Amino acid sequence: MKLKGGEKRGIITKVKDGILAVLEAVETLPQGVKPTGLRGKITARFMAIGHQGIYKNVAAVLNLQPEDDFLEISCGSGLFIKSFASHVHSVAGVDHSEDMVKLASYYNQKRIEAGTAEFRHGDAAWLPWENDKFNAVTTIASFLFWPEPLKSLKEMYRVLRPGGRAVVSIGWNAEDGQDHSKYVETHGMRLYTGKEIQDMFQEAGFSQNYITYFKSFMIPRGIIASAVK
Ligand SMILES: C[S@@+](CC[C@H](N)C(=O)[O-])C[C@H]1O[C@@H](n2cnc3c(N)ncnc32)[C@H](O)[C@@H]1O
Repeated sequence: MKLKGGEKRGIITKVKDGILAVLEAVETLPQGVKPTGLRGKITARFMAIGHQGIYKNVAAVLNLQPEDDFLEISCGSGLFIKSFASHVHSVAGVDHSEDMVKLASYYNQKRIEAGTAEFRHGDAAWLPWENDKFNAVTTIASFLFWPEPLKSLKEMYRVLRPGGRAVVSIGWNAEDGQDHSKYVETHGMRLYTGKEIQDMFQEAGFSQNYITYFKSFMIPRGIIASAVK
């Protein structure tokens, strides 16, 4: 005979497993590279749920302050900005998917109307802002898709003011002990070690390079690399 509590736990476990399976499927869709159309918008929304653990770790390293002018490159849904940068002086996002620019604008509409947020269409390697515009820049779960990583870090450096900080977070990487070969091929990803990112930061002109590691959903050992202009 089954106990009532046992049945409840069984259902809860099944629901939990179902949600994890959906998030896992979303995480491995090619849509992650350039979310487009309705499917892209749904993917980006679910992705923001799956990325909550990454967002919290990145926010802790970024340590955003009320006076910060903050840019997120490859902002996707814009939900990191909405949830973790609501207190800063100004926010901006850029993404190479026009649908993500629209979605991020939708989720941050109030701040756009208040004149303290803007979202632009553009590429990480060609940021559509002038020099010294921001004092904090991040990118989450996107660096591994960028075809021109060094040029993109140089762009980050260019748009930062002296003393500004850059934080690059990558979940899957070359030192997490996992076999990502299937997704490397389907997503056109590149896997890096923390040291490789640090070397690129240095080549782009940054100093005070620092690496921290984190654990999150589907991410056994993610990398957060930070540096200062
Ligand atoms: C996996 S999603 C992550 C989105 C968001 N950062 C998050 O964590 O919820 C990757 C995002 O990077 C964007 N992206 C990929 N390559 C890009 C590039 N070269 N320049 C700008 N955006 C890019 C995609 O359009 C997509 O929105």
